[in-house]
Amino acid sequence: MPRTMIEPFRIKMVEPIRMTTRAERERLLEAARLNVFALKAEDVLLDFLTDSGTGAMSARQWAGIMEGDESYAGARSFYRLEAVVRDLTGYQHVIPTHQGRAAERILFSVATKPGDLVPSNTHFDTTRANLEVSGVEPVDLVIPEGLQPRLRHPFKGNIDLGRVERLLAERGDKVPFGMITLTNNSGGGQPVSLANLRAYRDLLARFGKPLVIDACRFAENAMFVKLREPGQADRPVKAIAQELFSLGDGCTMSAKKDGMVNIGGFIALRDGRWVEAARNLLILTEGFPTYGGLAGRDLEALAVGLEEVVHEDYLRYRLRTAEYLGEKLLAGGVAIVEPTGGHAVYLDARDFLPHLPKEQYPAWSLAAALYLEGGIRGVEIGSVMFGKRLDDGTETFHAMELVRLAFPRRVYTQSHFDYAAEVICELKGKAREVRGVRLARQSKHLRHFTAECEWA
Ligand code: F0G
Repeated sequence: MPRTMIEPFRIKMVEPIRMTTRAERERLLEAARLNVFALKAEDVLLDFLTDSGTGAMSARQWAGIMEGDESYAGARSFYRLEAVVRDLTGYQHVIPTHQGRAAERILFSVATKPGDLVPSNTHFDTTRANLEVSGVEPVDLVIPEGLQPRLRHPFKGNIDLGRVERLLAERGDKVPFGMITLTNNSGGGQPVSLANLRAYRDLLARFGKPLVIDACRFAENAMFVKLREPGQADRPVKAIAQELFSLGDGCTMSAKKDGMVNIGGFIALRDGRWVEAARNLLILTEGFPTYGGLAGRDLEALAVGLEEVVHEDYLRYRLRTAEYLGEKLLAGGVAIVEPTGGHAVYLDARDFLPHLPKEQYPAWSLAAALYLEGGIRGVEIGSVMFGKRLDDGTETFHAMELVRLAFPRRVYTQSHFDYAAEVICELKGKAREVRGVRLARQSKHLRHFTAECEWA
């Protein structure tokens, strides 16, 4: 059997990408105030900014687009999506939203109150911000292994059950529900095991608390369970995904990831406790409950995407992509979060740029340098994203300084990854030339999106 793992699809439609010169990139990055979010996408060669909404749809999904029912109320496409989500999750109540953060905002508005605490392995940035603006404290309790980039552990996304138990025992009256992110995006795209999820569910149940799953990358998580968790190798991935959902009481979903669509999301809930309030808020801010901020064709493409994402050939290739780039980087002496996660490779910027102090935001500098070097756009997951300037002018810093290279689904081929590996390894050879940055302008929430920087 050949060992090369090929892309399990052929390409039917192409979109050109454009090479720029180093001098052009220097000018473009200056104009973007050293913030890669401010670059024009057409000035980027390989766009690894995010795997969110950037994937390629299949022929079946495009066919679904034509089948979309655009009725305001009771559209066929909604019922199709509802049936697929019920089958996958076992959750009865399906509330479509335009993307994940809308699902979060609606659920948190109806299910939390100011002063509450919500534990998770790690809340992603929008989840954290949506809790904070509701006056709720997000509490990140990933296992200690999850915070050590080089340490290999099969399920670095697991939640630390001892700390969850302490939180529940000491301040349980403030906890409306527990959350968990599958896979743990901020911690490296690392999976959570079935065993950990089951124990977390049991612990929450002992304190009478429901479990809400942030399910963006549930299929990638399920594939890791199949590949790594004892006793799971022979089960269909879909059955594993169904079991993951069976341990929760509901989920928020950004369908822009494992929904395989460019826009979309939903809340799905097992019982009725939050449903009516959530639907009422949905009508106010998103749309009628059978479309929730999406077009009928979006609902249709999502229904197909949720069926396709659990195909094992696809998921094997998907996880192999990150592993493949990771192997090449490690061979070139580049430190990454190990083992590689599902949707991305995370460069350890502290190791890459040891001469930069944390006050000069090494991961932000590395993201800028990668663009200059080869037109590659990644995203900082470090102290610009997760640190904060306090009212007294001092700063808090994040535990890790990472640059995430996230891979759009079904978009780039192996030679694109070969190119990326070459650029990154070459940059490593001249890392000492990379300068740090300082923040010239920032906003109070989600400052990384709009920050303006200068070379330090
Ligand atoms: N939860 C997780 C774990 C996420 O990764 C994201 C988005 C969201 C929630 C919010 O979903 O974007 O549809 O509103 N993550 C993207 C990323 C943006 O690049 O990782 P959204």
